[in-house]
Amino acid sequence: MTQLTSDMPVESLRLGFIGAGRLGCALAWSLAQRGVSVHAVASRSESGAAALAEPIEGCRILMAQAVVDTCDLVFITTSDAGIAPVARSLRWRPGMGVVHCSGATEVDALASAAAAGALIGGFHPMQTFSDPAAAVRSLPGCMVTVEADPVLQAVLARLVARLDCTVNVLPPGMRARYHAAGGYASQFVNVLLAEGARIWASWGGDEEDAMRALLPLLKGTVSAIESAGLDKGMPGPVSRGDVGTVAGHVQALTEMDADAIALYRALCRRTVPLALRAERISAATAQEIQRVLDE
Ligand SMILES: NC(=O)c1ccc[n+]([C@@H]2O[C@H](COP(=O)([O-])OP(=O)(O)OC[C@H]3O[C@@H](n4cnc5c(N)ncnc54)[C@H](OP(=O)(O)O)[C@@H]3O)[C@@H](O)[C@H]2O)c1
Repeated sequence: MTQLTSDMPVESLRLGFIGAGRLGCALAWSLAQRGVSVHAVASRSESGAAALAEPIEGCRILMAQAVVDTCDLVFITTSDAGIAPVARSLRWRPGMGVVHCSGATEVDALASAAAAGALIGGFHPMQTFSDPAAAVRSLPGCMVTVEADPVLQAVLARLVARLDCTVNVLPPGMRARYHAAGGYASQFVNVLLAEGARIWASWGGDEEDAMRALLPLLKGTVSAIESAGLDKGMPGPVSRGDVGTVAGHVQALTEMDADAIALYRALCRRTVPLALRAERISAATAQEIQRVLDE
């Protein structure tokens, strides 16, 4: 087995995966499709490992230690809680690489591998992986946060480029904060849509209709943000300075229930600085909107 060097071409790497779940499959398949050798996989279940290996020519199903022993760079793609115990349970070689793909877990979860001389790192794609085949299609264009020893950093950056993704570099100790930020473009979008559907249900509308109405709106908003930016791409009454419309919302949701108005107030307060930043409303209008929200 070779030791990693910063100028090592990705074609000469032998990659291994431990953990054949949603992200493991999507990442292994994407790399294999782009000419990187995914040499071996281990997982808790043989069926999981077989699902990852099946579409990749030459990918072997091995025990986790054999993956480590036969690969130059190993991706631990178990659940977050499994990363440190899996790393501790294996014997690592000096100069090989090992990374995890968790956004929230610090890289030192791999400290036991580092103690054996392995180069350790984090490789976190900022994307949702639910259906691995769909994730293969949505991965190009994403940002991948790489935090690693310098030699491994260079190797991982080339893998990111091979995936047609871009590298984000994160200072140590910031992973929990960084991962929380990602939640605003993932699970909290679900929460906001669920609140829209709950309001929709208050007059007897069903969730399916609500999603038919709200999802195209969400897509339009995302395109507006992409083309005009967060502030100038923000739609809605605050961005137009429609104080009366905001007052109508406040009254309607206050009549609905305490939760509905509490969330509306918290979110609407955050729209005001964006509208100001876009120079769409004056300071006086911003104050008027704040007054309506505080009433
Ligand atoms: N899903 C996402 O959207 C996403 C996005 C970015 C980052 N990530 C990160 O990617 C990593 C994997 O997440 P995931 O969503 O792919 O999880 P997942 O679908 O639950 O897959 C984890 C896989 O790890 C295997 N596994 C668990 N414990 C193991 C052990 N001790 N030894 C070997 N294999 C073991 C399981 O395999 P079996 O099926 O064989 O039991 C399971 O399929 C996590 O660190 C997560 O934070 C996920």
